[in-house]
Amino acid sequence: MDGSSQTTRTGRTKDEAAPAAEIPAFEITDLRLTFSGRAGAVEILKGVDATIRPGEAVGIVGASGSGKSSLLMLMGGLEQATGGEIRAFGEDLTRRSEDELARFRRKNMGIVFQSFHLIPTMTALENVATPLEIAGAEDAFERAAAALEAVGLGARLDHYPAQLSGGEQQRVALARATAPRPRILLADEPTGNLDGANGAAIMDLLFGLRRDHGAALVLVTHDPSLAARCDRALRMRDGLLLPPEEV
Ligand SMILES: Nc1ncnc2c1ncn2[C@@H]1O[C@H](COP(=O)(O)OP(=O)(O)O)[C@@H](O)[C@H]1O
Ligand SMILES: [Mg+2]
Repeated sequence: MDGSSQTTRTGRTKDEAAPAAEIPAFEITDLRLTFSGRAGAVEILKGVDATIRPGEAVGIVGASGSGKSSLLMLMGGLEQATGGEIRAFGEDLTRRSEDELARFRRKNMGIVFQSFHLIPTMTALENVATPLEIAGAEDAFERAAAALEAVGLGARLDHYPAQLSGGEQQRVALARATAPRPRILLADEPTGNLDGANGAAIMDLLFGLRRDHGAALVLVTHDPSLAARCDRALRMRDGLLLPPEEV
């Protein structure tokens, strides 16, 4: 995470056009996902098109089962598309090996899901420091401690996930996702398991990282007030993104 966060800090308002030379955070073209099961093929994504600019915050809303999580998994390179293309800062995620995708994620992406996926045998500090260490940060533990302090867990560094409440575990997951200062943040209903106060704190952190470091934020949410905090909202219906005039 070098100076790239500075260069994506454009300061543009949402209505101004991107400069021609700017590489989109995401460029998604005719993206398709089909599962083939015993009952036949199920089309989950039916040709999704979208462009998301660096530093832009985009909310994704839509009914349960419309394909929001599937789209986010593909955007994170965590699932293989059956068709179409998905470019993140110019890298075509549909044509990369698992190893290349893992490396790209480590360098560029912070991902926060509803379930925390913390490593139970590691303390909060170790959970946050490990990705930084893998990325080659020499001050991984200092940065991890700072990230945990920023989410209000400065007194919990040496606690294991089982010793933390759900809200605290989610904050550790958020510190882990944001400590490397990724230029892409993907969040799938990150406040779904949390009460109002914890949820609001998580959202303030996500939007704060976006504001302070220019990260592109893609936020799947059921909450209209959170979608309204984004630069724009996209609505999924039955495996497709609706055109803006229908959102
Ligand atoms: N591994 C899978 N195999 C078959 N169907 C799946 C799989 N994962 C998700 N689906 C189906 O894909 C559809 C979209 O799911 P999902 O992306 O989770 O929607 P959302 O996040 O909008 O609720 C649902 O009908 C779901 O049942
Ligand atoms: Mg979902």
